[in-house]
Amino acid sequence: MNTIVVVDENWNIGRDGGLLVYLPGDLKYFKERTYGKTVVIGRKTLESFPGGKPLPGRRNIILTKQKDYAPAGCMVCHSKEELLQTLKGDTGDIFISGGEQVYRQFLEECDTFYVTKIYEAYPADRSFPNLDKRDGLAITWQSDIQEENGVRYQFFKYERK
Ligand SMILES: NC(=O)c1ccc[n+]([C@@H]2O[C@H](COP(=O)([O-])OP(=O)(O)OC[C@H]3O[C@@H](n4cnc5c(N)ncnc54)[C@H](OP(=O)(O)O)[C@@H]3O)[C@@H](O)[C@H]2O)c1
Repeated sequence: MNTIVVVDENWNIGRDGGLLVYLPGDLKYFKERTYGKTVVIGRKTLESFPGGKPLPGRRNIILTKQKDYAPAGCMVCHSKEELLQTLKGDTGDIFISGGEQVYRQFLEECDTFYVTKIYEAYPADRSFPNLDKRDGLAITWQSDIQEENGVRYQFFKYERK
């Protein structure tokens, strides 16, 4: 199972229900990595998308405890156990895609982490665990540094050793 996330220098990921900064190059990278695959997202993250609509070209699985929540074009799971049962061990092309609550619950299930690091610090109210401080993970690939609207960032892949 994979995680994909964009973090700032302090491993922050969001504020006021949205992302920290608009980086079209990172959104394109996210689309390329996840297209045709399955994304698992929390109900709050789904509602942060334009029109509250799912991501096109991907199987969107939404986590919510609300039994009557049925967003168009999405599959819904009501617990971590129900999700794992739905996937039935078929976890290769699954991307845990946020937000904070969902990322933290699936950290141990994931063996690959696609992390975009932004070289800026933003005010934030949501974060991701600092993978550089965790044992057992190694950076196995990194891109060149990207720059967009004066913001520098870089793509990394972390894998379990
Ligand atoms: N930087 C990034 O890469 C990135 C990516 C995605 C999101 N984000 C940001 O993260 C923030 C949202 O994160 P968040 O932590 O507030 O919300 P979230 O993780 O998107 O959604 C939380 C909701 O998911 C549902 N949920 C979570 N775990 C569940 C479980 N085990 N079983 C059933 N339902 C479960 C619950 O929905 P109900 O309340 O309906 O029960 C819960 O309230 C936003 O600012 C967003 O922009 C950042």
